[in-house]
Amino acid sequence: MKSAKGVFRNRLFVAAIIKFFSRGFRTMTLFILLLLSSMFLAGLSFAQGGLKLPPSPSPEHYSTVFMARPTKEKNAGPVVFSHFIHRVKFTCRVCHYELEFSMKANDTPIQCDNGKMNGRYCAACHNGKISFGPEDENGKNCSRCHLETKIVTWKKFYEHQVKKLHELQEKLPKSKFGNEINWSKALDEGLIKPKNSLSASTMEIVNIKTFTIEAQMSGISSAVFPHKTHEQWLDCSSCHPELFNIKKKSTESLRMYNLLEGDSCGVCHLHVAFPLDNCKRCHPKMRV
Ligand code: HEC
Ligand code: HEC
Ligand code: HEC
Ligand code: HEC
Ligand code: HEC
Ligand code: HEC
Repeated sequence: MKSAKGVFRNRLFVAAIIKFFSRGFRTMTLFILLLLSSMFLAGLSFAQGGLKLPPSPSPEHYSTVFMARPTKEKNAGPVVFSHFIHRVKFTCRVCHYELEFSMKANDTPIQCDNGKMNGRYCAACHNGKISFGPEDENGKNCSRCHLETKIVTWKKFYEHQVKKLHELQEKLPKSKFGNEINWSKALDEGLIKPKNSLSASTMEIVNIKTFTIEAQMSGISSAVFPHKTHEQWLDCSSCHPELFNIKKKSTESLRMYNLLEGDSCGVCHLHVAFPLDNCKRCHPKMRV
């Protein structure tokens, strides 16, 4: 990583300065000033392109999954699944644990069978009871999920997404990046009440304390991991044991490089939860 070298170079620079000046109060102050400013500059350089962040989609496209796997040859338009519409009503746990949707786009083996899906996946809710089903008294609803590949259809769909997101943004606390909504705050303040299960059972939050993850690089403030925030949305199995060990400080892939490649925290924090651009929410003491 370019920026790692940057810090190293900064350190060499500071070492050279110490050698150059003799001891004394004034040089000590100068040294401290230089050290602070080089740390500050290192922080800035990380923020300004030292880390190669993937481009983030616009707020109304962020967290939207484009599902067009088998539909092309089978003569059905693509399906566009919107997380921000669904997560107001359901936690991640409902779909990614109970209904077994994959957290990788186009990975779930969905067989549509004219929208019946054997009662699974989308049809666990899109059955005419929880939400619209494949058919109702007005006829077929295929086109509510399948978009025709015409510009007018896409324009209408896009305008609808924008409208829906703006309605939510007006009601919910703001955040930078992603959907520009602070979903944790929205939940904590009771402004949204997503169901945690399709069956009646309610989950008890285990509530393991928030812990800090020390950055393995000097000059970088540590990252925080609030376990409770995650337990409110997710099942333990979304993270353990595949992504993280159940032992603090034992997961090797817990590094910024891996996050940026969509692994580790980046599984969610690049696609659905607030994106990596928002340094400060994970590194609260970072000056960016
Ligand atoms: C109503 C159901 C539903 C809810 C609720 C839901 N998801 Fe998803 N999620 C899906 C579906 C469907 C896909 C696409 C799966 C596929 O294409 O195989 C998906 C895909 C994803 C992906 C991969 C996206 C990509 O672009 O690679 C991630 C990450 C993800 N979900 C995380 C979450 C998180 C975090 C939450 C909670 C905040 C959540 N999901 C809530 C249904 C849901
Ligand atoms: C856990 C239940 C659940 C699952 C699973 C689910 N949905 Fe939904 N969906 C809903 C509910 C409830 C609404 C109505 C939301 C509203 O009006 O606020 C909805 C709304 C929608 C809408 C209309 C959104 C809009 O803009 O008004 C579409 C399209 C949709 N779902 C597609 C899908 C697809 C595709 C899948 C599967 C990949 C899926 N849903 C899985 C519950 C679910
Ligand atoms: C609730 C949303 C929803 C509704 C309603 C719906 N579909 Fe689908 N359909 C999907 C999803 C999701 C896929 C899988 C897309 C993927 O994996 O890329 C799919 C896939 C398909 C496929 C591809 C082959 C297959 O069976 O998986 C066809 C054909 C299809 N749908 C036809 C229809 C028809 C016809 C209707 C109306 C009678 C309909 N669908 C209603 C969501 C829906
Ligand atoms: C969003 C991801 C995520 C979810 C969901 C999650 N965890 Fe964790 N958990 C972590 C991470 C990250 C660590 C730290 C791993 C490391 O430092 O190597 C951790 C560590 C732990 C630890 C060790 C704590 C310590 O002090 O050593 C326990 C115990 C644990 N998790 C239990 C659970 C349980 C039980 C659940 C479900 C109620 C759960 N986790 C849900 C990500 C998660
Ligand atoms: C399986 C999905 C998933 C993984 C993996 C994950 N998170 Fe999250 N995280 C979420 C969701 C969902 C939220 C709720 C906020 C949102 O959606 O924007 C969240 C919120 C947070 C918050 C904000 C808390 C607040 O109160 O504002 C922090 C900080 C955070 N995550 C850090 C991490 C770190 C660090 C890791 C890796 C060790 C990680 N997360 C891994 C899904 C995930
Ligand atoms: C979702 C949470 C999250 C976000 C957002 C995030 N980071 Fe990190 N960051 C981490 C975690 C976790 C680590 C690993 C700490 C460690 O090294 O053990 C880390 C480590 C780092 C490191 C040290 C190198 C390394 O791999 O350990 C740097 C530098 C860094 N982050 C910079 C940034 C910058 C700059 C941003 C914003 C553009 C950012 N981070 C956004 C969670 C996050």
